[in-house]
Amino acid sequence: MSAAIGDPFRLDGKVALVTGASRGIGRAVARRLSAQGAKTILCSRDLDACESVSAELRGAGGESHALRIDLADLDGVGEAARAALSLWGRIDVLVANAGGVAHLGPMAGVSSAAFDATFQVNLKSYLWLCRQVLPGMVERRDGALLFIGSISGLAGERGLGVYALAKAAEMQLARNIAVEYGRHNVRANALAPGLVRTEMTRPLWSNDDKLRQVVSGYPLGRIAEPEDIAGAAAFLVSPAAAFITGQTLVVDGGGLIGRGTPV
Ligand SMILES: NC(=O)c1ccc[n+]([C@@H]2O[C@H](COP(=O)([O-])OP(=O)(O)OC[C@H]3O[C@@H](n4cnc5c(N)ncnc54)[C@H](OP(=O)(O)O)[C@@H]3O)[C@@H](O)[C@H]2O)c1
Repeated sequence: MSAAIGDPFRLDGKVALVTGASRGIGRAVARRLSAQGAKTILCSRDLDACESVSAELRGAGGESHALRIDLADLDGVGEAARAALSLWGRIDVLVANAGGVAHLGPMAGVSSAAFDATFQVNLKSYLWLCRQVLPGMVERRDGALLFIGSISGLAGERGLGVYALAKAAEMQLARNIAVEYGRHNVRANALAPGLVRTEMTRPLWSNDDKLRQVVSGYPLGRIAEPEDIAGAAAFLVSPAAAFITGQTLVVDGGGLIGRGTPV
């Protein structure tokens, strides 16, 4: 008789830290990880908003805490990560998701402050968080890191060029950590969403002309909802993806591959 086969998508017993969990993709990821059995620690600058998502997860039977973190403040990132580690004594899964656009327009017009802010929130803070959680993962020989990148980091961009630079580097961060830490059974991957219906992109999807233009390039004929990203994220940090590391999973409704020849 064969042994019972467990569900490799479950995250029971794992502690997951999700940044940018107050809304949008991060909130959807937090909900999904909690539904898969993970204990969750949710953080962003808005503690009340994170606490209300945590309360929702606890109400559904999950275990969840909220913490304030401002990724623009590196000392604060260290402190918040140490506070997160002390809650359950471990972090098995890090979903570094918080990010944003500090400069819109041609790259040549970017100020030094906006350039630094873009790299601080979308990249440097990710590495600083990793530095806090990696030692415990190495000790336990178990860890999964996931960075929410963007298809902007996989193609040339006009108005989002500086953001795209940081997102491309984020995907390289996953590859570097995968190579450095693979022998400790720690995995690192990135996820590259196309257009997702969140606050960050409201000016795009709330404009019918712009939305039509984007959707016309997506073979699936729609933009993503945050839950579309959450499912892929939950897969990548789960045992089902135990042999996947250093990869970027594109979740864009086929947008990048959709530019066939118009014959
Ligand atoms: N939406 C898209 O189409 C799309 C496409 C590709 C990639 N992405 C990426 O997906 C990630 C999530 O974006 P989203 O679409 O869900 O946007 P969103 O709804 O605007 O959420 C952004 C999240 O990041 C947090 N955040 C921003 N700056 C922060 C800081 N300095 N410190 C701590 N938290 C901070 C925000 O929290 P508080 O304001 O509460 O602090 C919020 O929870 C980002 O990395 C974004 O680049 C989005």
